[in-house]
Amino acid sequence: MNYSEKVMDHFTNPRNVGEIENADGIGEVGNAKCGDIMKMYLKIDGDVITDVKFKTFGCGAAVATSSMATEMIKGKTINEVLKLTNKAVMEALDGLPPVKVHCSVLAEQAVKAALTDYYKKQGVDPEPIVGIIPDCEDCH
Ligand code: FES
Repeated sequence: MNYSEKVMDHFTNPRNVGEIENADGIGEVGNAKCGDIMKMYLKIDGDVITDVKFKTFGCGAAVATSSMATEMIKGKTINEVLKLTNKAVMEALDGLPPVKVHCSVLAEQAVKAALTDYYKKQGVDPEPIVGIIPDCEDCH
């Protein structure tokens, strides 16, 4: 498999791996296609993501995309984070092989699931804000 240097870098040296105690939002998503799982933890102050950590039991592309996604959302506002797409994460990594595109969807889903959890904990209906968590088209 031909991975870009950035993918290899984030795979071999992933950023923001771990858990956050007392996280404000936790999202766990699974990939129906391969069975891989990703868990994302967010610390939110006001409407800014002040910290983010993730754990992935998944393939190299899943690790690399989660790592890149955490770097892209740290310090951003919720509104900015909601615009993050798996495509943007892939572009930041200089692309992924076509068979690995579904792995990048996991990162986007995990971020949105964590924000959904955050709003639920606050007693706010998440759907009008976060929307429906996108499905991975490859996984059906
Ligand atoms: Fe499962 Fe990549 S093969 S997330």
